[in-house]
Amino acid sequence: EAAEKEGYQHFMIKEIHEQPKGVHETLMRRLDKDHNIVLDGIKLTKEDLEKINKVYIVACGTAYHAGLVGRYAIEKFAKIPVEVDVASEFRYRDPFVDENTLFIAVSQSGETLDTLAALREAKRKGARILSVVNVVGSSVARESHDVFYTWAGPEIAVASTKAYTTQLMAMYLIALNMASTKGTMSKEDYSKVVAELKTLPEKIEKILGDIDKIQHQADAQFSNESVFFMGRGLDVNVAHEGSLKLKEISYINSFAIAAGELKHGTIALIEDGTLVIALATQDHLYEKMLSNIQEVKARGAYVLAVAKEGNKEAEKTADVVMYIPDTTDELTPILSVIPLQLFAYFIAVARGCDVDKPKNLAKSVTVE
Ligand code: G6P
Repeated sequence: EAAEKEGYQHFMIKEIHEQPKGVHETLMRRLDKDHNIVLDGIKLTKEDLEKINKVYIVACGTAYHAGLVGRYAIEKFAKIPVEVDVASEFRYRDPFVDENTLFIAVSQSGETLDTLAALREAKRKGARILSVVNVVGSSVARESHDVFYTWAGPEIAVASTKAYTTQLMAMYLIALNMASTKGTMSKEDYSKVVAELKTLPEKIEKILGDIDKIQHQADAQFSNESVFFMGRGLDVNVAHEGSLKLKEISYINSFAIAAGELKHGTIALIEDGTLVIALATQDHLYEKMLSNIQEVKARGAYVLAVAKEGNKEAEKTADVVMYIPDTTDELTPILSVIPLQLFAYFIAVARGCDVDKPKNLAKSVTVE
């Protein structure tokens, strides 16, 4: 096992560091020499896509959080309405699905029972089934019409990291591919997004090359018993993933909210010293996030913010700012989740938790 960890203390931190490679592979294996996206496992034609009037993305846990970003990408690039659901809900709620529905299952293992059951239910109702899977030949992949394999490599730690960032890359590529097949995006805009996607592995590397500040914050904050995450737009989806990471491996009571909902309840819980992680990476929502940070600060919260490099105003309101390299708003999740993964990891280590095998959790849930 020590050899497999290649000198890292845990599989989780090893896998966090494998993300530039996983994201790079997931992307580069799908680009032809002219930088067009070619998805061999997906046979959706222009006619197929014109028929599709609704997309359901269904998954569990971290894969569900990747689906939330997928919704944004598909709606923005391919202009098809998308609903995202957790598999254990979807399979029992008699959802409206027919032959004009595209069902996208997202699963690292491809063996999660609820996801598989939801897929079968959608298939029975006539939906086209596309899956985003990491494990080649898994049940979810075998039962799908179209498959996109992420290139994360084997993920051992129970808490998912590199599977998530490669799933995000998958969602962007699927959305862009749909957009170019349907003709909903100009060639110029498409090329711009692809060019930006190519910069992401290096930008993840940059975050991973400078983790002292995050570790220092984790070492100072590890004894908190509750943490709130908040964000707006795509940031709230990443906030959910950051919160899940933290609770999974450190057993801290954490949850995430859309910052606009603060005053509808959560603000009542803020008191002196409450730790709040505020994601503020969306340019068009930046000012609004700064006001939300002020709101919690005014009630005594200690705020760690995540912002894009150069957005220095966050330093005036938050206590500490963790910066991510600049990218377009729609692609920030692949970067902004990295400090949150590291934060959760260092907190769990500081608390002496069994990082790779947290209590009560399994890597793949194949029972109900
Ligand atoms: C378990 C794991 C999570 C994972 C979820 C879905 O709860 O602990 O890390 O996100 O299952 O797994 P899947 O293999 O379907 O992505």
